[in-house]
Amino acid sequence: MCGIVAYKGPKNCYPILIDGLHRLEYRGYDSAGIACLSDEKITITKRSGKVIQLEHGLKVNGKYENCNGSGIAHTRWATHGKPNQINAHPHKDDSGNIVLVHNGIIENYDPIKKFLKSKKIKFKSETDTEVLVQLIGYFFNKGKLNFEQSVRAALQRVDGAYGIVVLNKKEPDVMIAARKGSPLVLGIKDNEFFIGSDVSPIIKHTQQIIYLEDSQMAVMKSEEYKITSIDKDVSLPKKVEKIDFKIDDYDKGKFKYFMHKEIHEQIHTIRNTITGRAKKDRVYLNGLMEYWTQIKEADKIFITACGTSWHAGLIGKNLIERFAEVPVHVEYASEFRYNKTLVDNKSVVIAISQSGETADTLAAIKKANEYGAITVGVCNVAGSSVARETNCGIFTRCGHEVGVASTKAFTAQVSVLYLLALKLADSNDTINRSSMKAHLDFDDSINKIKSILKKENEIRKVALKYKNAKDFLYLGRGLNFPVALEGALKLKEISYIHAEGYPAAEMKHGPIALVDKDMPNLFIVPKDKTYDKIISNIEEIKSRKGKIIIVTDSRDKILKSLANDLILIPKTNHYMFCQLATIVLQLFAYYIAVGKKLNVDQPRNLAKSVTVE
Ligand code: AGP
Ligand code: GLU
Repeated sequence: MCGIVAYKGPKNCYPILIDGLHRLEYRGYDSAGIACLSDEKITITKRSGKVIQLEHGLKVNGKYENCNGSGIAHTRWATHGKPNQINAHPHKDDSGNIVLVHNGIIENYDPIKKFLKSKKIKFKSETDTEVLVQLIGYFFNKGKLNFEQSVRAALQRVDGAYGIVVLNKKEPDVMIAARKGSPLVLGIKDNEFFIGSDVSPIIKHTQQIIYLEDSQMAVMKSEEYKITSIDKDVSLPKKVEKIDFKIDDYDKGKFKYFMHKEIHEQIHTIRNTITGRAKKDRVYLNGLMEYWTQIKEADKIFITACGTSWHAGLIGKNLIERFAEVPVHVEYASEFRYNKTLVDNKSVVIAISQSGETADTLAAIKKANEYGAITVGVCNVAGSSVARETNCGIFTRCGHEVGVASTKAFTAQVSVLYLLALKLADSNDTINRSSMKAHLDFDDSINKIKSILKKENEIRKVALKYKNAKDFLYLGRGLNFPVALEGALKLKEISYIHAEGYPAAEMKHGPIALVDKDMPNLFIVPKDKTYDKIISNIEEIKSRKGKIIIVTDSRDKILKSLANDLILIPKTNHYMFCQLATIVLQLFAYYIAVGKKLNVDQPRNLAKSVTVE
């Protein structure tokens, strides 16, 4: 995971590339660097730390230095070698001719490094990336291959995942981009070319986009370009698409952090997800129609995903089993890809991913495709690898999510899975028309999101009381067990407080040993059939002096008497309760992290989408 941005055209590349890096910084932020090729000279500037440090390094008296030519830039999320200035990208080859930025991992870097060292090539960094640029340089400097042929020759010898952009001062009018496993997008405008890990650094310049596919190379020479293959020198079709993203999605507006903005956006995003899909007593999921017969007749449904998307998958299982009465198996994508699987050509595999670029999820999809299953993507990014690798899918339509801690994508995923569960139930005759109508009547419940956001100050006050806690338990049942997992993950990610989510009743089988007077326990308590049981669980913690925080839609006095703090959410249906409770937990984690003065959008060690194994 990292962010790549590159520019080739007549303008000064520094402001364009630095603006692009800022937009991509959510993808990696341990170091950043830029290389400019102008007048057959390569100038590299690198800094450890954030993009802002690099920006300062490129300015004199507040103004950018000039670099008219081509430029490549990178914000790193280290996989091989410490996050310091030497290991920051771009890397160059020993001769200094070739310079490269890379996203991904070169798995066979070790034998190649040994080979190149035996040829007296000297290495400067600890990265796997440097091996690739040195290998390109090795082929080019032998004098038999031109730049494009040298890149192709080197890529044919490396294993692993990569998105790369390369420049060569001996062929200064050429820029080459290539991908296998890691995303790259090409933007085209008259005599200018832009490259990005996603569209965010490109959209303010052009809407004409090509999503590079796996094993493809883009070669830009002067004002011309071609799409070719890494495997052989062939000319491939240029699939130019017009994209329709708003720049607003990439700005924080009045909010200090993207996460905060994205929590607030949920008033609109959940509605966007269902618009045109839930109509009176019917669900319309056009993206699935081509495969609907196979989907509704599937023997088995599997859901695979990572992190927050996996939590949405657990809710999806509960909803599909409850409404459509089909068994659903949920598995982490990183396990699915290696475990023995019972997937076959009568199975449906639903892969959930906000970014659509998570390496483990993509590998799981590949495996499911190989086993002949129908693969369904639930994904937020049009044109992403998940959208392209699955047979069919449903976009979550919640807009670009920048905060590393996923918020609006989760509630959008849950909304999609809810619609899918109801549509399956309708096809399976496990639901009647009037229940369908009642379940699809969202207006009132979506409006209740507003009342949660109005309680923000109250939630902030409660959160701040617990900002110095060392450990947390989050407890819920049924649909709210995954909500507990998700709440605990949010807290871990952005506040670095250890937190675990458990089914409320399971707590007595072990975690209760952790409880003492300093330990906060957050219970999610809807007034449903498990209500009385959860009250007993709360009593069990209370009698061990644990602190109790309750999120509930019940006004019963008993809860008030048990809770140290109680956050009341409005009455709604079962499904919407878990969405509202999730938003409370997102705000709770957010305010603890803000209270600890942490960088909410860029938590340590994390990256927005994990494109490595
Ligand atoms: C969410 O807060 C996390 N940063 C992370 O768990 C994330 O959900 C996971 O990496 C999956 O990402 P995806 O949805 O883009 O595939
Ligand atoms: N593997 C490379 C490195 O560690 C690239 C990592 C990234 O994608 O940022 O430098």
